[in-house]
This record gives sequence, structure tokens and C-alpha cells, in this order.
Amino acid sequence: MGRSEKKPTERLIVALDYPAWIDAEQLVRLLPEVEYFKVGLELYLASRGEAVARLRELGKKVFLDLKFHDIPNTVAQASVQAVAQGAAIFNVHAGGGRKMMEQAVQAARAKAAELGVATPLVIAVTVLTSFDEAGLQELGFAQGIEKSVENFARLAEGAGMDGVVASPREIGLIRAVCRPDFKIICPGVRPAWAAVNDQKRITTPREAIRQGADYLVVGRPITAAADPREAAQKVLEEIKEAL
Ligand code: C5P
Repeated sequence: MGRSEKKPTERLIVALDYPAWIDAEQLVRLLPEVEYFKVGLELYLASRGEAVARLRELGKKVFLDLKFHDIPNTVAQASVQAVAQGAAIFNVHAGGGRKMMEQAVQAARAKAAELGVATPLVIAVTVLTSFDEAGLQELGFAQGIEKSVENFARLAEGAGMDGVVASPREIGLIRAVCRPDFKIICPGVRPAWAAVNDQKRITTPREAIRQGADYLVVGRPITAAADPREAAQKVLEEIKEAL
């Protein structure tokens, strides 16, 4: 399917950063138009994993954002569980290496085939956007953030991964080295009318889509809005205009 054939609702992922399922559920019920929700470590642990099943029962698709990073066998087994729980998208750290990523993809495909369900998108985290150059140098990555993002993206693509999580500002450099249908999921998105919060290098939904983002992860501009449904509709409208 070409880029513009995907509907805006197939591109927006609302981040459910809540300490309890009951809070997340309230928000989900306010947003009938939204198809995709992101469950991260906080909600996953707070709900003892239940958030995923509950979202599936509500007919929603889940981006399971647990960023696996361990030895290949352990990550492969975790990937099997991500598929079994019905994640549509899940992620692992590219820093776990080629073998770890290859095994995550293979395990996810095998489990999906066994269950007769669609294989989820298996996505790599490159360099966390919380890093600055000094922080990365400290880890021994002398080549800097941009080069590291590029290397991790290439490695992820070579390992059979479906795409990466990246800052909207990194889209161009990833598109330059990876195949055209390599998926890019972008957090750090802020509509012009929303508060910036603690995000630093932000981009509007319009700009991120125009740059070539496949999915946008939006949290507080929707979840903390006085009228979350109206906020989500405004973001969807902006995505539609940009396509
Ligand atoms: O509320 P906000 O829109 O900032 O939420 C963005 C979501 O995306 C949060 O769940 C955050 O943890 C996540 N995220 C991010 N930057 C990254 C990776 C993930 O903001 N580089």
C-alpha cells in the first residue's frame, strides 16, 4: 500500500502513559476514532500486562513499547509472548545487535504463523532521544548521534526488522540509507497549539508526515487536553492535510 493510501487513523498512535489501567481506559473510551495505542513500561507493569488484552477487547491495536534488550534467546522468547498477547507493533533495542534482532523477527514470524495472525511490525530503537552528544561519547560511541542512528538503522534493516523509532529530525538520514518501505515511527510530535512539555526537539504532525514519518506517537497533547477527542480529531485532520 502506498504512503498516501493509508488513512490518518492508521498513522496516529496515542501514548497511554498512565499509572493504572482505569485511567488509560477512560481515555481510550473517549477516543473512538483512534485505532492505535502505545503501552509502555509504566502501564504494562501497573496493569500487570492486562492493558494489552483490555485494549484488544476494545478492538484497538497495540504498540507494545517495552524496548527488549537482552541475549538473543531471551528476546526471541519475549517476542513470542508479544505476539501471543496480540501486539500489532513491538520494539527492541538495535544496540542488542544483529543476532538479537534477527531472532526477534524470526520468533515473531513463527509465532504469528502458528497462531494464524498477522505478523506484528518489529521495530528497532536506535539512539534514545534523551541522549546528547556528551552522553553518547561517554558510552564510547565516538562517531556521534547522527552516525550512530544511521548505523543502527542500517543494522536493523539488515537484520530483517520492519523499521525504527526515530526523532522526526532523523527521518531524512534514515531514508537516505534504508529501503523506502522501512517504517519510521516518530515521537516528539507537538501540534502548534499544544504545550511542549519536556520534549526538546519537536516537530508538528504536519511536518513529521511531510518529512516521511509512517506513524506518529502523540501523548500529552491528546491525553492532557481539556477535550482529548477534539485534540485527537485536530491531529488526525492535520495528518490528513499533510498526506
Ligand atoms: O506525551 P508525549 O507526546 O511527549 O509522549 C511521547 C511518548 O513517546 C512517551 O510515551 C515517550 O516515552 C515516548 N518516546 C519519546 N521519545 C522517544 C521515544 C519514545 O517521547 N525517543
